[in-house]
Amino acid sequence: MDYSSLAVVVLAAGKGKRMRSELPKVLHRICGRPLIGFVLEEVAAIGPGRVVVVVGPGADAVIDECGPGASFVEQPEPLGTGDAVKVALATLEQRFDEILVLPGDTPLVTADTLARLVDARRAEAAAASMLTTVLEDPTGYGRVARGAEGLVERIVEEADASETERSITEVNACTYAFERSALEPAMGGLTTQNAQGEFYLTDVVEQFAGSGRRVCAVPCPAEQALGVNDRRQLAEAAAVIRRQVNSALMLEGVTMVDPDRTYIDHGVEVGRDTVIMPLVFVTGRSRIGAGCTVGPCTSINDSTVADGCRIEFSWLDGCEVAEDVAVGPYSRMRPGTRLSRASKVGSFVETKNTVVGEGSKVPHLSYMGDAVIGEGVNIGAGSITCNYDGHEKHQTVIGDRAFLGSDTMLIAPVRVGEDATTGAGSAIYEDVPDGSLAIERCEQKTVPGWKDRIAARRTRKGRQ
Ligand code: UD1
Ligand code: CA
Repeated sequence: MDYSSLAVVVLAAGKGKRMRSELPKVLHRICGRPLIGFVLEEVAAIGPGRVVVVVGPGADAVIDECGPGASFVEQPEPLGTGDAVKVALATLEQRFDEILVLPGDTPLVTADTLARLVDARRAEAAAASMLTTVLEDPTGYGRVARGAEGLVERIVEEADASETERSITEVNACTYAFERSALEPAMGGLTTQNAQGEFYLTDVVEQFAGSGRRVCAVPCPAEQALGVNDRRQLAEAAAVIRRQVNSALMLEGVTMVDPDRTYIDHGVEVGRDTVIMPLVFVTGRSRIGAGCTVGPCTSINDSTVADGCRIEFSWLDGCEVAEDVAVGPYSRMRPGTRLSRASKVGSFVETKNTVVGEGSKVPHLSYMGDAVIGEGVNIGAGSITCNYDGHEKHQTVIGDRAFLGSDTMLIAPVRVGEDATTGAGSAIYEDVPDGSLAIERCEQKTVPGWKDRIAARRTRKGRQ
């Protein structure tokens, strides 16, 4: 179908009071993406002639997040959904003779459903078609009141509903396709005479029905009508979206040990035969290759991980990990970390702005910051870069095949040459030339019979 004469109005100017938040409601995120992002993607998929988002004053953050593809109109005051549509209509060129209206807070609606809604109105030449669903618990939603012949007569908001009306389980999803020539005159008939003192868009339905125009109800699955008004609904919608993201990945060949406890952002790619264990978070601009094992209890943000890696009980942020790398358990890889092929970062290791060369190992209890580690290097347990002198950060360079004894302190700026060795416990503050051994250690003093001498001293004291 051709939707070029269709303009879409996305409502996003409400205060979102029930979220109790400083953030505009439509910017609350699910799987890393703002609510309105989900809506706009589905809207774009049907190829409408124009998309207008109605925003509140000073909603620059909303405009930034929406990106290109939509235009914006400001509703000066949140006087209700009817007023929001009125503001948008005034900006739409006359060539748009059909208007699709939907809220920015229903992230589960699909392009298919939207197209179905528009097509239904066209097929019946109705004044409007509206999306409805039946909910076991319709609390909070507008109820669809039907007349004797089953035709939609009006929508009653919960706050205005009688006891009997409240028992209606068919609800309004706030998503409509309108014939513009019917909608525009109806705008003038809206009043604020209702429990919330707002201009309700829903009231146009009663006007249409009253003037003998038809309104067709198009049913949709309950989740697609889920409007996020509070944090409980946010969590509800998130659970559904998470399931969708995870099941798409599983169908692509990713194993998830427990998909209900796996948290992957929208848009993250994971390669085939990768196994994701429980309590893994893969967020932001992250990509994971094929044949990896990730988790349990691992967070990977804004990072790329190539094929064949194993990452367990660890935290990666802003990292680049090449093939066949092992990380963890209990490692913290901070931004600027680059782990080259077949390298290993073991238990209780922290890195920042550091390159670990091919096949190199940082197996235990280390901090490597602002370091460039060559290939085939072994960093002994407990070794650290002292990269900060209290004022500035300095670099450490460790040459290929160097061997650092355990507990080497590298006082940066410093360079350990290729094939160089450091003695365990050394504080290295001067460059170590290629192939040399650097050892910095006090001579060991050994006192024979120490235990007996101490015991003798105690006995003497006791006698005094
Ligand atoms: C609305 C419907 C209700 C429906 C429900 C479905 C009305 C009067 N009620 O109620 O029948 O069951 O959606 O989710 O339409 N907005 C503006 N400007 C305003 C007010 C709201 O842009 O002045 C936007 C909001 O940002 C939101 C959308 O319109 O995205 C819906 O508003 P909201 O307050 O969430 O309406 P509901 O109470 O959910
Ligand atoms: Ca809502």
